Amino acid sequence: MFRIGHGFDVHRFSDSFDSNKPLILGGLKIEEPKSLLAHSDGDVVLHALCDAILGAIGGGDIGQHFPDTDEEFANVDSSLLLEQVLASASSKGWLPVNVDVTVIAQAPKISPYRKAMRDQLANYLGLKASDVNVKATTTEGLGSIGREEGIACHCVALLSSSK
Ligand code: CDP
Ligand code: ZN
Repeated sequence: MFRIGHGFDVHRFSDSFDSNKPLILGGLKIEEPKSLLAHSDGDVVLHALCDAILGAIGGGDIGQHFPDTDEEFANVDSSLLLEQVLASASSKGWLPVNVDVTVIAQAPKISPYRKAMRDQLANYLGLKASDVNVKATTTEGLGSIGREEGIACHCVALLSSSK
């Protein structure tokens, strides 16, 4: 038995860099003087990944499980949210098979971080790096992402029955 899910998330950059809110993508600190506005750490990649897994298990969305009004999740490390989502999938008998991530950003460049991000995501998911793909694209300067106002991310996840 297999289940597939899709996740999508967007976060807006803050007007000025907040050193208490460094740019975190796929669990990695990105060395850029940019911060994303978010109740959590703003990791748009892990949020899309959580939503893809929740989608596959019919588990709703990340906002339902971790409301942005809840102080418990203020500045939370999104890998802890992913851990809970994976535990929920596992308790229902579902394990990740492969995931495919597409980061949409005019800036920063993701390519210098692609290998580390792939390894990091594989580590979180208990997968081999070859079962994780990280892609990135600009919007060729079009729209809000093109104006470097924020970052979006899509993710597709395939899960299989662990039984
Ligand atoms: O149309 P295409 O996505 O090929 O062109 P692009 O948006 O100019 O991106 C060219 C390449 O740059 C992509 O294939 C990515 O590998 C890389 N890229 C990146 O590393 N970081 C981004 N934020 C956007 C693109
Ligand atoms: Zn988010």
